[in-house]
Amino acid sequence: MKRVKGVKDLLQLCKLMLKPMNLPFDEKVFSILIHFNTHPVTSRKEKMTKCYPPVTEEYQKAVEKAKRKLRGLIAEKNCAPLMLRLAWHSAGTFDVKSQTGGPFGTMKQPAELAHAANNGLDIAVRLLEPIKEQFPILSYADFYQLAGVVAVEITGGPEVPFHPGREDKPNPPPEGRLPDATKGSDHLRQVFGVQMGLSDKDIVALSGGHTLGRCHKERSGFEGPWTTNPLIFDNSYFTELLSGEKEGLLQLPTDKVLLSDPAFRPLVDIYASDEDTFFADYAEAHLKLSELGFADA
Ligand code: HEM
Repeated sequence: MKRVKGVKDLLQLCKLMLKPMNLPFDEKVFSILIHFNTHPVTSRKEKMTKCYPPVTEEYQKAVEKAKRKLRGLIAEKNCAPLMLRLAWHSAGTFDVKSQTGGPFGTMKQPAELAHAANNGLDIAVRLLEPIKEQFPILSYADFYQLAGVVAVEITGGPEVPFHPGREDKPNPPPEGRLPDATKGSDHLRQVFGVQMGLSDKDIVALSGGHTLGRCHKERSGFEGPWTTNPLIFDNSYFTELLSGEKEGLLQLPTDKVLLSDPAFRPLVDIYASDEDTFFADYAEAHLKLSELGFADA
């Protein structure tokens, strides 16, 4: 195939590829640009420009193989919730202003694992290590984010696009950047909006990650799952939230504020009644989260 040299070439190629499929050009352009991986990507919705670094064929192959191994591990150990929490806690420390923290492989360091918010994530790091050892070419940064993407996929959630090329950084973030479950919507907007640069919609969609897993008294002080099927990724986090507190299920204060905040609430209603919209918005928000501070053009 002729090598694609610039954006013009790429756009021409996209049009040629789409013509036989009878698809409108702009509906598919995002995913096709992602496929080529090295070109600036502009999401129509967010005007977020990304310029992914090229990776070698050997690296890309290792990503695919590691993905298969991760599917096996996560299925065998039923550890999708913990892997999603690992990926999110790795990325969610990003601070836009200082450009520090974020999904850059620092979570394996004892200093970051010792942060109170990360209680229990040492288990995830330990579970992943035998697979990571098989792929020394991969960065921890990519590997942990890949585990998060696989966790969502393997439990029935949306496919979240994955772009490799994150580099491991030496310095873990300071403690205290992840959200405090006892606080309100101002706090969520401070952490997700001001610190990470994400939107209200991202906050609500990403909170739906609590469709997976549970709280463990000895890790966070809270106890119990959010839904009756904590190993299935669906929109039941939102339907349960709307149906009120129930014996055996849990709602954190930061979950409940999604009901009382006038900007968050309409999104909860939409996601509870329309799983497809939740999946689309979740995938977009997860992608943004997993790429905070990465490939910014
Ligand atoms: C909105 C702010 C958030 C707060 C305050 C929060 C808080 C918590 C707390 C306290 C736990 C319990 C940890 C334990 O005891 O094991 C937890 C678990 C979890 N969180 Fe969040 N979280 C937030 C957002 C997110 C996001 C954005 C995601 C992913 C997209 C996520 C995914 C998870 C998962 C999957 C678990 C279950 C882990 C397991 O079962 O081991 N959370 N979260």
